Amino acid sequence: MDARFDWIAKRLKQFDGEGATRRLAPRQSQPGRMVIQSDGINMVNFGSNDYLGLAAEQSTQRPEHGSMGSGASALVTGFSPVALQLQQRLAKWEATESCVLFPSGFAANLGTISALAEAGDLILSDAANHASIIDGCRLSKAQRFVYPHNDTSAVAALLETHRRRFARVFIVTDSVFSMDGDFAPLETLCDLADRYDSILIADEAHGTGVFGDSGSGLCEHLGVKHRVPIRIGTLSKAIGAMGGFVVGPQVVTEYLVNRARSMIYSTALPPALVSAALANVIQIQEEPQRRAQLFELSQRLRDRVASKWRLPPMSTPGQIVPFVVGSNEEAVRASQRLADAGLFVPAIRPPTVPAGTARLRVSLSSSHSDEEIDRLAEALCGLR
Ligand SMILES: Cc1ncc(COP(=O)(O)O)c(C=O)c1O
Repeated sequence: MDARFDWIAKRLKQFDGEGATRRLAPRQSQPGRMVIQSDGINMVNFGSNDYLGLAAEQSTQRPEHGSMGSGASALVTGFSPVALQLQQRLAKWEATESCVLFPSGFAANLGTISALAEAGDLILSDAANHASIIDGCRLSKAQRFVYPHNDTSAVAALLETHRRRFARVFIVTDSVFSMDGDFAPLETLCDLADRYDSILIADEAHGTGVFGDSGSGLCEHLGVKHRVPIRIGTLSKAIGAMGGFVVGPQVVTEYLVNRARSMIYSTALPPALVSAALANVIQIQEEPQRRAQLFELSQRLRDRVASKWRLPPMSTPGQIVPFVVGSNEEAVRASQRLADAGLFVPAIRPPTVPAGTARLRVSLSSSHSDEEIDRLAEALCGLR
């Protein structure tokens, strides 16, 4: 092997020693069903973020509208009429003035935070925030403090001590946390943002399509839609397509079009994808029964494992259900045992989650059946 890469080979060996190696495994999903095939074996898929089953349906039902390439960035020739339509639809759904699309949810967080927070500003970021928020903070020239997960007393103390030293302060949080499925305390964060003249940014990646009467997200569910001025979303989870978006005041989206490098310097979303996303947004608004079904399945799973597993208490049963097992090796072993039973549940290990909290992350879809949930519950109980 080329000796210049010895250091990389050594690192990979180290990952192996820690039970932390990640490998890409080709897995074929079956159109219209929450089933994936790996090594010729079918498994019920409890690992995708297709919370409403729309991605699985799309390949069977959607007529193709438009091309699979956009040809250029949105500012050059890549911005299609259907992209404008989707932006307008999302802004209306989110009850904001404006919306701008990004190539992915990751790009939306990265580009927005790094564009808005400048030298002389402060960012307060939750310890459990998604990697794309963390990287957006790192790219920004602002100073940042990471506060303990959901600890609003810590946020209040930081604001009390530091607010006056900074021109602007941004508080950034996932709304629904991706690896725990719990909610950010958005009402208290809104109160703090108001009291300390700060700007709250919420990443609704796992909230959009799932929570709220109209399905627009956790901000709607908690009644703070009009108090969180900048919200970031993805088209890749409940919306079942691909891409990201930011909603907020017109001045903010206009500024992002001028300053968010991950949007300006990346090829725009292709029209075929955007029209699929638009059709799915319309479907989500028109079919609240999918959300209701998802919550029922979540409650069903929680009830059936309650005697064996301690789960975070939640007033609303969300679609992400974490089963914390501890070590990396145990998590991988547990995931393999479920796979042997025909159930795909990914083992999530550090650095995605804190050391010692490796877990099985179940993500539910309204397309799962009661019988599949019961099989999963029985297998999870069998692990204890
Ligand atoms: C909380 C959160 N934000 C952002 C993203 C990135 O979204 P996308 O997959 O569209 O890049 C994810 C995806 O895993 C996420 O979990």
